[in-house]
Amino acid sequence: MLMSVRMAPRLPLIFLLMIHGFSSADWGVSYSHSHICALKDSSVIMSCTYTYPTGHQIKNVFWTENTDKEPPDLSEDPEYSQRLQYLGDKQQNCTIRLSHVTQKDEHMYYFRFTTNKDGGKWIGKPGVTLTVTDDTDLQVESPERVTEGDSVRLTCKSSCTLTDRATFIWYRNSQPLTERRDTNNQLLLQSVRREDAGRYSCALHGHTYISPAVHLNVMYAPTSVSLSISPSGEIVEGDSVTLSCSSDSNPPAEISWFKGRTSVGSGRIYSISEISSDHSGEYRCKSINKHGEKYSHAVTLNVMYPPRNISVSISPSGEIVEGDSVTLICSSDSNPPAEISWFKGGTFVGSRRIYSISKISSDHSGEYKCKSRNQHGEQYSDIVILSVIWFKGGTFVGSGNTYSISNISSDHSGEYKCKSINKHGEKDSDAVTLNIKSVRCFSSVAVVVVSAAAAAVGVLFGGASGAFVMYICLTKRTNRRSAMKESVISDPNEDTYTALELKSTTSDLYDTLTINRKMLQ
Ligand SMILES: *[C@@H]1O[C@H](CO)[C@@H](O)[C@H](O)[C@H]1NC(C)=O
Repeated sequence: MLMSVRMAPRLPLIFLLMIHGFSSADWGVSYSHSHICALKDSSVIMSCTYTYPTGHQIKNVFWTENTDKEPPDLSEDPEYSQRLQYLGDKQQNCTIRLSHVTQKDEHMYYFRFTTNKDGGKWIGKPGVTLTVTDDTDLQVESPERVTEGDSVRLTCKSSCTLTDRATFIWYRNSQPLTERRDTNNQLLLQSVRREDAGRYSCALHGHTYISPAVHLNVMYAPTSVSLSISPSGEIVEGDSVTLSCSSDSNPPAEISWFKGRTSVGSGRIYSISEISSDHSGEYRCKSINKHGEKYSHAVTLNVMYPPRNISVSISPSGEIVEGDSVTLICSSDSNPPAEISWFKGGTFVGSRRIYSISKISSDHSGEYKCKSRNQHGEQYSDIVILSVIWFKGGTFVGSGNTYSISNISSDHSGEYKCKSINKHGEKDSDAVTLNIKSVRCFSSVAVVVVSAAAAAVGVLFGGASGAFVMYICLTKRTNRRSAMKESVISDPNEDTYTALELKSTTSDLYDTLTINRKMLQ
């Protein structure tokens, strides 16, 4: 192998020297194109130069289609005589022009010349290949899909590359492109935009044929992501609400939904069939495809609802002392905020959230309630009873301050009254008359007076602070024996009187005890 490679170039040289007796370096034909592609009916120029040893004079020059010993001169062929034009000379230029080419002209072309010396002749091998193409061959070659920003090259191809400088015309969606961005048979879309997408076709200037269209698909990340809400107006609890997300992207984007930072759904439409106040918040949608993602602006869903959870609180929370400042606060949950009205009994007394009584008196005692109202509904609070009681007199019963009489006898008949003392002053109660008439009685009589300790007071008045002392003084009025059977109640929280069983007594006594209970409630 090595030997044959080395030997190969030498053999023809030696052979040529033997035949012609001179160096082939002096003889030659050079074609500027070895292969020419021409459009049917166009003219073809085959550029060519030739050399020969000095001293020779050119006798004959012509082009031929074969390399036979005596090849025919093409210009004498009737098929070519009208169309072939020798543009060269008899020195070195052998350029020729062939016009109105057809498929029949597709073969090899050689330049042949002879000189005056020793039958000197030469044929330029290899020759020129001519291919004739039809404009109906035109095809647009384009990448199927490109991404926005890419540099894209579209080629208008024929079955062979046209050698002659032809002018191409480009079309997008059948409209000729006025902005010229093409060179030779290529259309260059530098930094392609989504507007460049479309059906591209090409044609040759001066020819009517237009190539089939090729679709250029330009991909891009989502843009102009927008969110809309239906219905567009006020949203009330229980409504059906639809959020729609739209965006421009290629390929189509996937949509996901966010409430605040929490993902709540996917798909172009997000529906809430029965909206509640829990759905209030900021919503956004996200549009994503493989080229990027984008969020919509945030839209606030403000769900309206009628008042609920209405309640009244009283301050101070403990016992209310005449002269105190008392505030009643009405609270409720609603959207939009509610208007508040206060009622004492059935009478409207105020319209602010806080109802204040600066110097309370017993006249203020009563049943209070508030009403919360907005355009979506109204609700009343429970009734709150305001009792201003302390200075009306009375005595502690039940609730830790045990007041009991065991083995009552007629000795206990008489007027009872009590005195109450606290930090605000002191006051005597109205007198109570105990009239014990019956003869049957029990062996012993005792009066239990309970001094109220702070703890016991706390039980009765719900955490009132401040110690006060109360005692009951018993005044004996008659010596008549009691007709009452009593049972002692050891539980200080129970109402002593409830257990007091009247066997036989005057209605006076019963009434009095009943009155006292009422006063103490
Ligand atoms: C040969 O002749 C042609 C036609 O006159 C001309 O266009 C071309 O430039 C010439 N070539 C050379 C190498 O002189």
